[in-house]
Amino acid sequence: MEKFYITTPIYYPSANFHIGHCYTTIIADALARYKRSKGYDVYFQTGTDEHGLKIETKAHEDGVSPKEYVDKIVLNAKDLWKALNISYDYFVRTTDESHVKAVQKIFTKLYEQGDIYKGTYKGLYCVPCESFWTKTQLVDGKCPDCGREVNEVEEEAYFLKLSKYQDRLVEYLETHPDFIEPESRKNEMLNNFIKPGLEDLCVSRTSFKWGIPVPFDDNHVVYVWLDALTNYITTLGYMSDDDSKFKKYWPADLHLVGKEIIRFHTIVWPIILMALDLPLPKKVYGHGWLVINGSKISKSLGNYKDPREYIKDFGVDAVRYFVLREVPFGSDGNFSVEALIDRTNADLANTLGNLVNRTISMVNKYFDGSINNPKEYLELDQDFLKMINELDEKVASKMDNLRISEALEIIFDLLRRSNKYIDETTPWVLAKEDAMKKRLETVLYNLLEAIRVCSVQLEFAIPSTIEKIFAQLNLEDKTTKYVDNNNYHVNKAEALFKRIDKEEFLNSNKM
Ligand code: MSP
Repeated sequence: MEKFYITTPIYYPSANFHIGHCYTTIIADALARYKRSKGYDVYFQTGTDEHGLKIETKAHEDGVSPKEYVDKIVLNAKDLWKALNISYDYFVRTTDESHVKAVQKIFTKLYEQGDIYKGTYKGLYCVPCESFWTKTQLVDGKCPDCGREVNEVEEEAYFLKLSKYQDRLVEYLETHPDFIEPESRKNEMLNNFIKPGLEDLCVSRTSFKWGIPVPFDDNHVVYVWLDALTNYITTLGYMSDDDSKFKKYWPADLHLVGKEIIRFHTIVWPIILMALDLPLPKKVYGHGWLVINGSKISKSLGNYKDPREYIKDFGVDAVRYFVLREVPFGSDGNFSVEALIDRTNADLANTLGNLVNRTISMVNKYFDGSINNPKEYLELDQDFLKMINELDEKVASKMDNLRISEALEIIFDLLRRSNKYIDETTPWVLAKEDAMKKRLETVLYNLLEAIRVCSVQLEFAIPSTIEKIFAQLNLEDKTTKYVDNNNYHVNKAEALFKRIDKEEFLNSNKM
């Protein structure tokens, strides 16, 4: 069985997660579910990046230990992932003992082989982003990521020799065109960061304590990116007594990350792996941000609310569907309650919900819920059945290229076509004539097959709705093509989505 190892970034548990974190995690979940449906042995990992000055400071402000502080947020995060139906296989915390031990071994190995050395760090540091910057990288003298003040710091530190691997990295990127996606990000990395010259990376700190101790130098803790990036292999048992998972799943097939951390994943991480003499991940995909009125949704800007509020108001699948559908491949997308309501009403309630409801109701009304296919096809069925049969291949061509939004568009084209098929065949007219009974049964059968086939494809996006649809269809057949001899004994029709009255909702002060 072919394996598929997919990861999200491990998020900083410095505050509870917002819809932006959900965005990455939902995409990863969608891809993991899709690959599982295609028979892959999927390993889907997410988790939390718990060390660093920012968390130490936050915990101090709250009067608790850093561990107590992150424990609470991790519980909240796990509850959120449950509410969003995130099907992760493993949740890593960088405070896990096995991770800590493996990071210490990696650090020691890199030191002993001369890839990590001791020096003095003089630099500009942005506390909220936990990033060091050079003068030339600043924008108007401020942090290029968040626009805030940076502080000058000087301390003894260990460094990772990025410069030593620069040429190998350039060669790798140039000979592996699929490694970074979208392609524009690859050019940005090469031209803006790598080719101007890589500076060695500071990988330890002495100015705070909340980190993994450098095993041979008590004053230092491992600085957060070496600790964070290695999570992708430490969880598989790399450098532990049992590395069977490592042998099975490494290299990762896909690291999914937001665009602001793509440089760590396509420069620092490959170099760590080269230094460890390990294969590189197959692909790093840098997606765009969800923005609210053009600005980044962020913990530090405080312009967000708990994602569970949206789930409560609109349902989990409305939220999942919205983020998967609304943000095109690689670009930013706007999150707004208005757009969420519009999408839910148009696609989920009107197109999908109505189709299922109308079809199942008619099957109940005209055939007491049970139909077999009399196969009384007409010319006008051909185009419809062709669309059903081509769906799997068309969706695969999009999903395999991470074009989730386009894949959904294709599935909804068929759902819309199915509604049109009802208008073209007018089942309520056929029902009036006994002579048309078989034709009517064929039409409804075709519609049930369209619903079934679309549901098979849509499971990655809206799993709990699809479970309800399969319960109404009362059939578990997951084949992706039209089957002409299924026996349907459908259950009662039940509404899947309620149309949301936008005005009423917006006026009800819930914004
Ligand atoms: N801890 C690091 C990652 C280490 S990975 C080895 C980190 N954490 S973070 O909490 O800041 O999370 C960053 C990730 O969250 C982004 O890369 C992105 O995937 C996701 N997002 C956070 N805000 C987001 C949006 N507004 N929109 C989309 N994704 C966002 O960086």
